[in-house]
Amino acid sequence: MLKNNNKIAILTSGGDAPGMNAAIRSLVLAALHYKFDVIGFNYGFNGLINSDFCTLDEASVRDIIHRGGTILKSARSPQFMTTAGQKQAADNLNHLGVSALVVIGGDGSFNGMLALKGFYQGQLIGIPGTIDNDIDGTDHTIGFATAVNTAIEAIDKIRDTADAFDRVFVVEVMGRHSGFLALNVGIACAAEQVLTFESFQNPGLELQNIANHIKQCKDERGQSSYLIVAAENLWPEGVTKLCSDLQAYANITCTPCVLGYIQRGGDPVAKDRILATKLGVAAIEAVRANKDMIMIGETSGQICEVPIQLAVKHKKQVNAALLNAQNSILDIAELAQLNKI
Ligand code: F6P
Repeated sequence: MLKNNNKIAILTSGGDAPGMNAAIRSLVLAALHYKFDVIGFNYGFNGLINSDFCTLDEASVRDIIHRGGTILKSARSPQFMTTAGQKQAADNLNHLGVSALVVIGGDGSFNGMLALKGFYQGQLIGIPGTIDNDIDGTDHTIGFATAVNTAIEAIDKIRDTADAFDRVFVVEVMGRHSGFLALNVGIACAAEQVLTFESFQNPGLELQNIANHIKQCKDERGQSSYLIVAAENLWPEGVTKLCSDLQAYANITCTPCVLGYIQRGGDPVAKDRILATKLGVAAIEAVRANKDMIMIGETSGQICEVPIQLAVKHKKQVNAALLNAQNSILDIAELAQLNKI
């Protein structure tokens, strides 16, 4: 059970997420506490292939808990998608005497771990870090809470302009192919509509529904602002096209706004710092307990271990109660209809 003087390596991969640095700090301090040597690979899996690494000690992780991004840099690595790249990575890990590798990232990074396992006999432990919150088996991923807050702050400002002009805005938030950011941000900004994959039917029908809803709301409330929060990659050709579609279909003028990478950066909020710290310590304890091919997550406040295969296998579902609240219970147009009966 007790393994001392072995070498642990850390890397961050895929989209950076606020709180990754807090996780690195926690991993390094916990590893040093248990007398492991620690190295960090730069630029995700590229660092493994190129043997691009640095030694990590207490000084390396001082004053980073509050910083967004990742001190280890990140990358999406086409080279690592090849068998040759994976073999090279495993050879370098063995050559350096790394007995366990901790990967902080999203589902692409976890798929990378699965590929690496074909060639590497050491332990592989995953920590979920992505603003998308789309990893099954953990309530939250590192970075999600900060990204929600960042998007809320931006959209609250957009609402001021929307109110001043009684304008319809369509704001696109990130999330790749998952609706966690859109739904949570939409709820928190009191968006009149949230367009997410989870409740999307088809563009033709949706266009009709969106246009009807905007008109009903304007009928009920008079001139007022109207905000649609839309998940990226949802509307064919994006939210600018959605706005021109609404103009052409129902003569509704809307202003598109793509929030973009602002959502990935910034100082992590308390929730992400604390989550990252807990997961980092638990990951080192999992290494000591000889665990392999697991993700360390948290459900209902408790640390959990999820086989990597399961974490990437199922699409994580958004909270059904939130979806129902947004689409039915809080719907202004529907409320107005009910009051008329
Ligand atoms: O996975 C995080 C994320 O920011 C997604 O929300 C987004 O779709 C994607 O990364 C963008 O990736 P890239 O940084 O490669 O453009």
